[in-house]
Amino acid sequence: MTPTHFLSIGEHRDRIRHLIDQAVLLKRQHAEHRMAPLLDGKILGLIFEKPSTRTRVSFEVGMFQLGGRVVTLKGDEIGFNKRESVSDIARVLSRYVDAVMIRSYFHKDIVEFASYATVPIVNGLSDLHHPCQTLADGLTILEHKGRLDGIRLAYVGDGNNVCVSLLELGAATGMEIRVACPVGYDPPESPHYTAQIFRSAEEAVAGVDVIYTDVWTSMGQEEETARRLADFAQFQVTMDLLKRAAPDAIFMHCLPAHRGEEVTHEVMECAQSVVFDQAENRLHAQKAVLVDLMAYPATDQGDPL
Ligand code: CP
Ligand code: NVA
Repeated sequence: MTPTHFLSIGEHRDRIRHLIDQAVLLKRQHAEHRMAPLLDGKILGLIFEKPSTRTRVSFEVGMFQLGGRVVTLKGDEIGFNKRESVSDIARVLSRYVDAVMIRSYFHKDIVEFASYATVPIVNGLSDLHHPCQTLADGLTILEHKGRLDGIRLAYVGDGNNVCVSLLELGAATGMEIRVACPVGYDPPESPHYTAQIFRSAEEAVAGVDVIYTDVWTSMGQEEETARRLADFAQFQVTMDLLKRAAPDAIFMHCLPAHRGEEVTHEVMECAQSVVFDQAENRLHAQKAVLVDLMAYPATDQGDPL
């Protein structure tokens, strides 16, 4: 049977709201200490070609809380297309583990891996998408605003992986997503969304419910840092910018943040900032994905031998 993968929000457009609702349920069950070991005996492989704090810890802790285990592999040990072809690694790991999460430099490597894997694959961040982050963001917005449909979110910064997944979330849930970025940093065109692009951060954030930003220089783009600092200088989220949004607007950032670049220290620490709720919600949102992809089917009660 072909496994279901979780590589982008857009590919699961019709199921995103369901996954967020499942995350709400799992979060409540966790708080009330009545989690069922839904992934008892299951093993998740974690492959990291890039550094991580939130993604690594939330997947490891989430699997433990669901009764499963993880095996963590560094990208330089596994060597996509250096030590071994992606297609061979995918078929070998599929014989050992029940699902694999991958953080990679190139989205095409995750797509290739998934096409050869016989177990579910989860995108833990690529150059093009960050769907697990965005699912947690949807949960966070729902908790703070009580709805997703009709929410106006202004993303201020680079049209990167986080921005693309937010645009796909908007299309999936009825949120209006505005993107404020300099010329040359637009999100890519996609069949999954039509991006509203603003060249003025002030115009984009006027009256919105949510202001969101991410680093100007993503992992793997470090050589472009000096150019990016100059190009994004007019796109910093400051208290003055936040005041242009709705009075009860929230501020979001996927973290890690570079205070003094894309956002000021004051905004990160202000009462409207929900960045640590977002970080916590990675755990609950990913548990919903893992259960969805890996849980034993309800009918699988027979004698395995
Ligand atoms: N937001 C996020 O993915 O954080 P890490 O890079 O620390 O995993
Ligand atoms: N856009 C950032 C997100 C980090 C979570 C990056 O890709 O480095």
